[in-house]
Order: sequence, then structure tokens, then C-alpha cells
Amino acid sequence: MTASPTLGVAQAPGRVNLIGDHTDHAGGLALPMAIDLGTTIEGRRGGDRLQLRSAQFPSALSVSLPLRDARIEPDWARYVAAVAVELQPQQGFTGTITSTLPLGAGLSSSASLEIAAALALGFTGSDMELALLAQRSEFAAVGVPCGLLDQLSCVFAREGHALCIDFGSLEIETVPMPVGLDIVVVHSGVERTLAGSAYAERRAACERAASIIGPLATSSIEDLPAIADPIIRRRARHVITECSRVVEATAALRSGDVVSFGEHMTDSHRSLRDDFEVSTPEVDALVEVLTAMPGVHGARITGAGFGGCVVAACEPGAIADPTTFSGRGWIVRAAGPASMQLIDD
Ligand code: GLA
Repeated sequence: MTASPTLGVAQAPGRVNLIGDHTDHAGGLALPMAIDLGTTIEGRRGGDRLQLRSAQFPSALSVSLPLRDARIEPDWARYVAAVAVELQPQQGFTGTITSTLPLGAGLSSSASLEIAAALALGFTGSDMELALLAQRSEFAAVGVPCGLLDQLSCVFAREGHALCIDFGSLEIETVPMPVGLDIVVVHSGVERTLAGSAYAERRAACERAASIIGPLATSSIEDLPAIADPIIRRRARHVITECSRVVEATAALRSGDVVSFGEHMTDSHRSLRDDFEVSTPEVDALVEVLTAMPGVHGARITGAGFGGCVVAACEPGAIADPTTFSGRGWIVRAAGPASMQLIDD
């Protein structure tokens, strides 16, 4: 009797960015935290086909390897296909994908899927190589010129901790999450896709600003008058002030000053709303409602923006039922990194 190929279970968390959005592509700072919502891929390696079903989509992925082009159908599977194009796995894989993350809502569902797929398909390099592979896959799958926020949050995650990431040096510091602080994620009800959004346009505006005043991560607000175009100037002001807020918010979190931490979050939302213009009226209204609640220290849009989720920091139990706002909400905990387990059965 031939033994069936070993069962593999790959798991990758999503992330919530506590503060520091649209700073990664400008070499700045961010403070994300991997969360206990994520992607699981379970199946067996072998053969020369890639066959995956997703619990969230009716059509399955079924292609023969080697795969040379990520632009396949069904389109949800392009993230996995892009990983297979990058990785050129030695053998096929047959399995299922399940996810507890809302898709396209600012919680890094695509990076989580790409990293779980790379592990399932047999990736063996370093954590940094895994993050870079997932970033290239995102670009190949949907053409979004994303930074490394999502991928680094997923592979370098530490349970019970946020990560303070410097995207200039790629240095990562772990920051313990204080006991007595709830991190709550609430879906605004506004669906968005990164590819369809103005992400690339915002990134280009930051690059334009940097070509005038130098790297935004090391510039100061005194440099801003040199930028003549008022829109480019506002985009740059967001990145410069957001990096300072990350430094201050991280210090506040380390010292347990959760009130000041929350204030920086709400200031960050205003900057993303007014200077970077990646919020929506529905998201702004949700932030207003949440920050007016007793015990809520602060709230902000999280991730790329243009809809999706809001993150709030509050006293334990202050937002007892996060589903009451739009039907979708979660009290999240800081989770550990992506992993792959092989089980002999
Ligand atoms: C998306 C991108 C990240 C980052 C955020 C905004 O999640 O994938 O690289 O730019 O938007 O902070």
C-alpha cells in the first residue's frame, strides 16, 4: 500500500495597523499588530497540478504546473497563482482555503493568503525572503505597488506584541501590548479594492514630494513650503506627521499611557482624512461614533483606506459588542507569525 502524501496545514494571520498608514512606501514608520483572524490552507503536496477550493468562492482553482502567468481565472486565485509563478514549486498541491478575515477590508487578507500559499507550496527561504516574495506576488496578481507593511506584520509577528517597523532600515522592534487595553476592529460596511483605489496615485504623490524635499521619513514640516503644489504638499505633510505620531504612540504604548496612545490614533485618522484623503464619509462617521463612546481612547481608519475597517483602542469591555455597528466587528488579540505544519496521517 502506498502512503498518502503528508497533510500540510499553513496558517497566516492578518494584521491591524494601529498607527502609521501610507508611511511604508515612503520609507517611514508604522506600528502594526498581527491578529487572531487569518488564512488557513490545508492539503497535500504531490502531482503536477495546483488545485484549491476556497470556502468563500464558488469556483475552484485548478491549473497544471509549471505556471508562468498569474492572470488566471477565477480571479480570487490570482494571489495564489502569483505565488506559484514566483516560487515554481517542485510538486503540485491539492487542498482547501479557509479565512476568518474580511476580504479587502484593510486587514491584509491578500498578504495573509499569499504567505499561507507560499508556505503550503513548500517555501523554504528566510522570513524576509518570504515577505518580499509575497510583496512581488501582490504586484503580479493585482498590480498594486504596495509597501511591506502587511507582509512583515505577518511573518515577523509575535504573540501579545505589536511591531514598530522602520521601513527605511527594515528594523523591527517588538512592543508588548499592555494588559487592560482592548483593540477593536469594526467594519465600516464600505467595500473597497486596493487595485481599484487611488493607492498608486497616492504613492506617486509621495515620490513626487520626495523628489523635491528628499526622503519624507527624514524630512520635517519646515521643509513643506518648498513644495508648490498644495495637494502634493498635503500628502507629504501626512507622511511626515504620521511618522512622528508613530514614535510618540509607540512610546505611549510602552509606558502604558493608553489615553495618549488613543489620542495619537484619532489624530492619525484626521491626517488620513484631511491631508491624505483616503477616508470616506461612512468611515469618518464611524470614527466619530466610536470616539464619543465612554472608555474609547481613540479610533482611526486602518490599512490603505477608501473604506474597509476602523480600529479603536479602549478600556476592556468599552465596546462590548463590535458587531452592533455594521454587523461585522471583532475584539482582536496580537497573534503569532505565519507557520506551516506537516502532519503524518
Ligand atoms: C496597504 C498596503 C501597505 C500599506 C497600507 C497603508 O495595506 O499593502 O503596503 O501601504 O496599505 O499603510
